[in-house]
Amino acid sequence: MRTINLGQTGFQVPVVAVGFWRLSKVGKAEAETFVKSALDFGAYFFDHADVYGRGLAEEMFAEAIGMSPAVREKIILQTKCGIRPEAAFDFSRDHILKAVDASLKRLKTDYIDVLLLHRPDALMEPEEVAEAFGILQGKGKVRYFGVSNQKPMQIELLRKYVKQPIVANQLQLSIAHAGMIRQGIHVNSMDDAAADRDGSVLDYCRLHGITIQPWSPFQYGFDQGTFLENPKFPELNAKLVEIAKKYSVSNTTIVMAWLLRHPARFQPVTGTMKPERLRDCVKAAEITLSRDEWYAIYLAAGNVLP
Ligand SMILES: NC(=O)c1ccc[n+]([C@@H]2O[C@H](COP(=O)([O-])OP(=O)(O)OC[C@H]3O[C@@H](n4cnc5c(N)ncnc54)[C@H](OP(=O)(O)O)[C@@H]3O)[C@@H](O)[C@H]2O)c1
Repeated sequence: MRTINLGQTGFQVPVVAVGFWRLSKVGKAEAETFVKSALDFGAYFFDHADVYGRGLAEEMFAEAIGMSPAVREKIILQTKCGIRPEAAFDFSRDHILKAVDASLKRLKTDYIDVLLLHRPDALMEPEEVAEAFGILQGKGKVRYFGVSNQKPMQIELLRKYVKQPIVANQLQLSIAHAGMIRQGIHVNSMDDAAADRDGSVLDYCRLHGITIQPWSPFQYGFDQGTFLENPKFPELNAKLVEIAKKYSVSNTTIVMAWLLRHPARFQPVTGTMKPERLRDCVKAAEITLSRDEWYAIYLAAGNVLP
C-alpha cells in the first residue's frame, strides 16, 4: 500500500490504518481471517487501545496474528492509554507506565511503535507525561508518541514539557462528521457552520507536521451508525454510487478516497471486521479524486458553501 510519513519522523506508514475497537465482538476464527487478510492487502499498521474490549482486543489480535519476533518485524503497532473505564481518564506517570506494560504483555511484544494518549485527562500534569514518555523511550518500550482527540492548545501544553515530537492526533472525521473542515470554509460567518469546536486543529496539525488519523471514517454523530446506504443520507449515497461507478470501485472505496484526497495527508483508521470491506478501503490508496468530485461529495453530505 502507498505510504506516508508519520508526523515529521521519516517513519513511513501505510496510508490506511486498521483499527480494532470492534475486534472483541467477533469470534476467534473471524479475527484470524480478518488479520491475515489485512496483511495480504498490505495493511500492516494496526491501531489498538488498552480499553478496547477491556484488553481483550489486544489479546485476541496477538493470538490471531500468531505473534512472534518474525511477525512483529513485519507490522506496525499503535496503541493508546489514558482511559480507565472504572475511573474516567488518567495521564499520570504511573498509570501510563503501567498501561504500556500491560499492553506489551497482551500484544506479546517488547515494543510499541506508536503510543497515543487516548482522550484528554482534565487532571493531566504535563511534567508527569514527559517523565513517562522519557522512561518508555529510554527503555525501548515505545518508539513514537502522539495524542488523540486533542485541541491545539492541549497539544501545545504537552509540547512545552515532552521532549519527543507529537507525531499523530487521532480525531473523529468523516464526510458526515467534517466540522474541522467545514469551520475553515465558513470563517467569521454568522451561521453554525462557522463554529470552531476544535481550535482549528486541522490547520494546527498541518502547521506542525502532526498526522491526523481520522477515526470512524464511515460514521456520523457519535456511535449512531454508518451513513453508507442510510436513508438519512440519500444525496450523499447517490453521489458516492455515481462516482464509484466512474472509477469501477465500491462506494466504500470512494468514502476513503475522499479522506485521502485532502492535502493534510490523513491516515484514516478503518473499523470494519469484514475482509472484503477492508480490501475496498485499501483500494482507495490507488485513487485520486478530482477537486470537483471532492467538493461534490462534501456538498452531497449536506454541507453548504458560504
Ligand atoms: N481515538 C478514539 O477516540 C477513537 C474512537 C473510536 C474509534 N477509534 C479507532 O478508529 C477505528 C475505526 O472506528 P469505527 O469502527 O467507528 O470505524 P468505521 O470504519 O467508521 O465503522 C466501522 C463499523 O461500521 C460498520 N459498517 C457498516 N456498513 C459499512 C460499510 N459499508 N463500510 C464500512 N463499515 C461499515 C462496520 O461493520 P462491519 O464490521 O460489519 O463491516 C463496523 O461496525 C476503531 O477501530 C479504533 O481503532 C478511535
